Formats: sequence, structure tokens, C-alpha cells
Amino acid sequence: MEHFEFDDISFSEGTRLLYEGRNVNGLDISPEAFPLFMTSAFNIGKNLKEVEQTYDEKGYTYIRTRNPNRKALADVLTYLEQGTDTLIFSSGMGAITTTHFALLAPGDHMLCNENIYGETFDAITSLLKNYGVETTFVPFDNLEAVREAMRPNTKMLYTEVASNPTDRLCDIEALARIAHEQDALLMVDNTFTTPICIKPLTLGADIVINSLTKFINGHSDALAGSITIKDMDLYEKIHTVRMLTGTSGCPYASWLVYRGIHTADLRIRRQCDNAAKLAAALNENPHVSVVNHPSVSTHPQYELGKKLFASPSLMTGMLSFEMPDDRNKINAFMDRLHIANYAPTLGGIRTTLSYPLLSSHMHVPEEDRKKMNITGGLMRVSVGIENPEDLIADFTHALKAFD
Ligand SMILES: Cc1ncc(COP(=O)(O)O)c(C=O)c1O
Repeated sequence: MEHFEFDDISFSEGTRLLYEGRNVNGLDISPEAFPLFMTSAFNIGKNLKEVEQTYDEKGYTYIRTRNPNRKALADVLTYLEQGTDTLIFSSGMGAITTTHFALLAPGDHMLCNENIYGETFDAITSLLKNYGVETTFVPFDNLEAVREAMRPNTKMLYTEVASNPTDRLCDIEALARIAHEQDALLMVDNTFTTPICIKPLTLGADIVINSLTKFINGHSDALAGSITIKDMDLYEKIHTVRMLTGTSGCPYASWLVYRGIHTADLRIRRQCDNAAKLAAALNENPHVSVVNHPSVSTHPQYELGKKLFASPSLMTGMLSFEMPDDRNKINAFMDRLHIANYAPTLGGIRTTLSYPLLSSHMHVPEEDRKKMNITGGLMRVSVGIENPEDLIADFTHALKAFD
């Protein structure tokens, strides 16, 4: 992959991401807006010699195998995550499950953080289990517990950088050391934090997954996921399973996400800064007992947060907070809010709410949910790009429902 790099001058990340990933093999014009290649196949040769040559050169052949819109998006993500290459999938879940099936075999063991997105938990405890891969869930903020849970057949450690929905962090460097002591892989979900805030591959992770449906696209209008890796052998294995299971990303969704990623630096910086400001205001509110955001000094991993991120205003645009577990008053609080609408997604430019008990963690057994600190009073907030003072005013006014 060619990078937008020069010997005589160096550009910053926010500038470079506007210029990375625009090379399409065989295209000798340069449209200002990147085109949509909505084609199921390419005419790949006049004769069998040329057809063979296209396959040998890994050119564009069939939509499930390769597509220029996926490639352009993949190249920008590879740049942002500082990996070697990226694969684009139909969704974040497609990226996670395809990678698990590609890299784990029946009889293998996986260690997973017990604080995890509900549907990742469901996929691991149902699909992967049926496939003969056993998983142990442990709190990854307890490195001793992680070390003790390792088995000779542990092939992968799996975690989110900041967990959905409570923003529990993990020490990626320490986890990578534990994994690599016995040649296991560390796979990290960067969806809540994004490569604008942290680059897990540079801290020792082997595989990074992003749900592109969220902050990376930012406009709440596409479903897609990505896997970025350093080791091309892993890439080939995952590419093969993606092709066979048909979880490749749709060109149109890739085109939308590619358009969205151009403003990721602007948007995500504002979202993270707004989240830190809203978290601080909620922390002062008498009706809020807990605020989960790593910028808040009461966060159990406040010190680790300072080590992982460049600044408290560049950690994550996600927070959650606990109100009294009173359904009527929670309903009244939601009715009083003018800005944040309820939406079971995250990362968009408008602030949204979700209630983990009825959305992201609906199917997780109660016992496991308790370990994740998901209670009846917990509300998750995906912070948008609104004026932060407006957001704080709206939440403060709505919380008066508990007066
Ligand atoms: C942390 C995390 N990872 C992965 C996913 C799955 O992404 P998608 O909805 O794109 O399949 C989600 C979805 O909410 C998520 O929150």
C-alpha cells in the first residue's frame, strides 16, 4: 500500500487521513470525490492468460473477494491503526466471528474479558462454544486472574479497550506480554475508543477490530466492521474465511464509511471532549451515584487511563451513569430530555442514549450482567458534537425528574 508520505515534509494524522487510500489499480483519473464501485465483478481479461494474470496479481475479480471501496477504506484504517493491512466486513459482528472462526480451532481455549459487549458475549458463549472452542471469562483489570486462567491450549485473549457500557479499561501492553509468553494472540476491540484515541497494535496487540457502524462512520447510516493486523499470515487466514462465509463488506456501506472517516479526526476529538465535560457535570449531580468515564477521578482505572491516552479529553465519546433504579422516574428523566434521543447504536454526531438492560446486554444472563455492573439504573450515553454547554444544560434539567 502506498502512503501519503514525503521526504521533505511530514503531515499530521488529521491531514493525512484525507489523502490516504485513494489508489485504485487501473484508474488513471482522479475524481475529487471517491467513486462508488457498485459492481459484482470486473471484466478480468480478454483471454485465459490475462484472467490468470489478474488472479496471480490479486486484482479485482469478484465482489466477495476484492472491491475498490473496501480497499480504499481498508487503507485509511491501516494507516490510522498503524497496521500492515485491513479487511472490511459486513458488520462489527461479522469481523469478530469471522476472525474467531479463522484463527481458533475446536479444542482451543480463549480467555475473554468479563466486561464485554453483550452480543460479543452471546457469539462466544453460543456460536464459538458449539464449534468446540472453550472460553473463560475473567476480569482483565486483574492481571493475576488473567495469568492464572491461562491454559496450555489458550490461543487468544479477547478484550475491548474500554468496555461496553461501563468503560472499564485494560492494560494492553501487559496483556500482550501475557499472551505472547505462550504464543497466544491478543485481539482488541477499539470501537469505543477508535484509532484517533489509541492504537492497540502499537501497544502489542495482534489484531484490532472496529465496528465501523459507530464513531468511524459517525453518521449512523451504514453497517460495517474491520480487522487490522500486523502479520500477513493472519490476514490470509481471515481473508479466506471471510470469502467462504460471505462476510465481506458491501461496497456501498464501505463508500459511506470512507466518506465518514474523512471527518473522524474533527468529530471524534469533539465527541471525546464533550464526553469528558458531560461526565464531569454528571459527577457533580446529586441524583447520579456513579459516572463511568475514564476522565473522572472516581473511575477505578483513572491512573491507567492517564497512561493509555494522551489527554482526558481524548479517551472515548462513550460514558454511562447510574441513576436511582426507579423506572417511572427514569421514564420522566428521558421525557424531559430534548437533545439525546434513545437509539440502540453509538458513535453518531447526535448524542444518543441506550439502556443496556434492554439493548446491548439484553441476552446476557443476570449473574454475568451483575459482574459487569449493569444495573436497572444504568444509562449509556454516546456523546455527539453538540455544543457541550447545551448538552450539560439538557441533562441537568432532565435529572430534576428525580427531585
Ligand atoms: C464494542 C462493540 N463491538 C462490536 C459491536 C458490533 O458491531 P456491529 O453492530 O457493527 O456488528 C458493537 C455494537 O454495538 C459494539 O458496541
